[in-house]
Amino acid sequence: MEKEVFVINGLSGEKKLSGSISINGAKNAALQAFAFCLLFKDAVVLKNVPEIEDVKNMVTIFQTMGVEVNRKSKGVYAVKVPKKISTELPKEISKKFRASIVLTGPILARFGKVSFPHPGGCVIGSRPIDVFLRGFEKLGAKVDESAEGYSVVAQKGKLRGNKLFLRIPSVTGAQTLMMAAVLAKGKTVIKNAPLEPETKSFADFLNSCGAKIKGAGTSTIEIAGTGPLVARGKFYMTPSDRIEAGSFLILGAVAGDNLEIKNCNPEDFEALIETLNHCGVKMDVGNNKIIVSANNFENYKTADIKTHEYPGFPTDLQAPMVVFLSQALGEALVFETIFEGRLNFVNELIRMGADIRLWDPHRATIKGPSLLRGREVESPDIRAGLAFIIAAIIANGQSIIHNVHYIDRGYANIEERLRCVGVDIVRQKI
Ligand code: EPU
Repeated sequence: MEKEVFVINGLSGEKKLSGSISINGAKNAALQAFAFCLLFKDAVVLKNVPEIEDVKNMVTIFQTMGVEVNRKSKGVYAVKVPKKISTELPKEISKKFRASIVLTGPILARFGKVSFPHPGGCVIGSRPIDVFLRGFEKLGAKVDESAEGYSVVAQKGKLRGNKLFLRIPSVTGAQTLMMAAVLAKGKTVIKNAPLEPETKSFADFLNSCGAKIKGAGTSTIEIAGTGPLVARGKFYMTPSDRIEAGSFLILGAVAGDNLEIKNCNPEDFEALIETLNHCGVKMDVGNNKIIVSANNFENYKTADIKTHEYPGFPTDLQAPMVVFLSQALGEALVFETIFEGRLNFVNELIRMGADIRLWDPHRATIKGPSLLRGREVESPDIRAGLAFIIAAIIANGQSIIHNVHYIDRGYANIEERLRCVGVDIVRQKI
């Protein structure tokens, strides 16, 4: 496969980016939306779907399994599930694309069985699936594990509602079990459910199509099983991506001169907004946009960060926040509580000149401000990749960012959107 890199000429600390960046539909909402289409008898139209690699992977999985996906126009997909589909997730692609696991719940509930490969670990951590498997068993399925992966079968072909307490408020775990419960017989109660806004958005849509889900967005969710849903032409509007918006807000704080982040929902990332306010970043927060004024690094204070489930500080914004902290005055502790591999990227930032000490896989201290120097760096995952882009933009000199395919998994046309606000970035084949 041909490899690509981003070549970025840094601003050497100047605050130059201006204009506006529009936020796309949320990756993690769109991926679940494809999964919930499996609950429907008729075609479901998904709108505002980001045109990212993860969506392409999801579409490929669907097509391999016999689900009809029709891309009607940019960001608009119609999904129709025929009476029979393969209940086996294709191995190679599902293994490298972990979000595919959300398909297991609705497939099991609708077709009575599902098999899938071991999702394995990934660069951000070991990522076990015990919450999913335990949930399936409590809903009356039998789980068999082999060297190949898992085979899960609903007893007598039908799941039965039950009380579930999630050991961890796993986002995809809860969503998978919620979808399964919609087609199960009887009532399911999920306690210790995650509060992420994407979960509420999909429950609202399913309810408008006949589902009976109460409490989504709170820690106890009740689902009365209803059987397959009907969309009757209703469409799901993917909410705007709070992680993309938050990342661009951080970019605006370190490099913006009146940078507007539009089509976002600031209520979805208040933890970041409040933290940046505390650090002294001046911004104007509206209902669906934020304008970051020209700020002076010299005035920024640090803040300790502890990643937390929603509405706490999101793990997906931890990497860009570390770049911000490298520009603020003083020392900050970043405590990554969700994933054990998500601080490793700091070694590349250290090579760029950041003063960071990694104490253990979960804790790092960052002393600022540091003048960053352009370097050749390898992006280890989606979110760290964007953090490197931000670091390269503020750095002195040229940076080359490898593993662009990770960044493409989560951010559509990132280089064009950044060029429009004044970033000197090109994509090159190597
Ligand atoms: N966990 C378990 N057992 C399980 C499930 C999770 O121990 O059965 C642990 C995980 O290992 C992790 C913690 O629980 O330490 C939280 O994981 P969670 O299941 O909530 O994460 P996820 O559902 O796999 C989603 C997003 C991630 C985001 C996290 C946390 C999707 C497709 N992925 O992952 O997004 O970081 O929630 O908010 O929605 C990204 O977009 O870059 C990304 C990784």
